[in-house]
Amino acid sequence: MCEQYHISVMPNECIETLNVKSGGLYFDATLGGGGHSELILRKGGNIIAVDRDLEAIDYVTRKFAGIPEFEGRYRIVHDNFKNVKQVLKECGEDKLDGAIADLGISSKQVDDAKRGFSYSKDGELDMRMDREQELSALNVVNEYSEEQLSRILFTYGEEKFARKIAAAIVRQRKASPIETTGRLSELIQRSVPFRKSGHPAKKTFQALRIEVNNELSGLGEALCDMVDLLKQKARLCVLTFHSLEDRIVKQTFASLATGCICDKSLPVCVCGHKATVRQIGKALKPTQRETDMNSRSKSATFRAVEKL
Ligand SMILES: C[S@@+](CC[C@H](N)C(=O)[O-])C[C@H]1O[C@@H](n2cnc3c(N)ncnc32)[C@H](O)[C@@H]1O
Ligand SMILES: [Zn+2]
Repeated sequence: MCEQYHISVMPNECIETLNVKSGGLYFDATLGGGGHSELILRKGGNIIAVDRDLEAIDYVTRKFAGIPEFEGRYRIVHDNFKNVKQVLKECGEDKLDGAIADLGISSKQVDDAKRGFSYSKDGELDMRMDREQELSALNVVNEYSEEQLSRILFTYGEEKFARKIAAAIVRQRKASPIETTGRLSELIQRSVPFRKSGHPAKKTFQALRIEVNNELSGLGEALCDMVDLLKQKARLCVLTFHSLEDRIVKQTFASLATGCICDKSLPVCVCGHKATVRQIGKALKPTQRETDMNSRSKSATFRAVEKL
């Protein structure tokens, strides 16, 4: 219970932007180690939080149970944040005073070799955030065609050696199934030229994780659903950790913040499109101080919108 589960990224930016009201209701889309939820609770807010990972749910449930002043002020649900509307309905709520989504995986998930997310620790290939789902990295690596693997590595990992790596995977698995992160990581290191920036397997592991957890599809729609649920002037804060995710958040926010989208040559608006949010400032990056203390925060980008 005392090991560090996850260090919350950009906590001050999140809390200041959310402008937590005592007694207000906040949705935490990505509970993780409960760091952001805890800060909101400490400011007097109430929480509905979800995570797809039962380990996170269990950890935070036990942690919060030991904090008497939180009693009766939080509800923790094992679900995907893409079901935010349903989750709120089942909690008997319909409007939020704010929401936060801190995308991706927690330190605990990466650091625990058994979860199979780590390219530097040997464990069974898994990578499921929700271990109740069937598809795991074991299936993707051993059952997808070479073309499918290559496409995934290229689109979700932006891996320029996607074809080479996919070919090496298919060659190796013919000999025997690739069952561990160690074997996969090793074969990638052998099939790509040395590069200075980052571990050679980093991009492949990111791509597999995105595929296994279906991380990108429906993300834009989920953010729109969260915005729909916000009260006027309530805010949604999002933290992303790679460019593909950030592009979706950026485009979704830009589109929600846009009014008329008619061709400029038209004398009057015919689209009826109305902005539903305003963007709060520019995208923010963590400070040098934060990245010095927590190197995993380096790739973070923070964006926020306010409901009109
Ligand atoms: C970066 S961690 C969150 C850390 C948390 N904000 C904190 O301060 O401790 C991301 C968490 O979101 C969960 N997660 C990712 N995608 C999800 C989704 N679509 N629905 C629900 N939970 C998700 C992961 O399982 C992980 O526990
Ligand atoms: Zn228009």
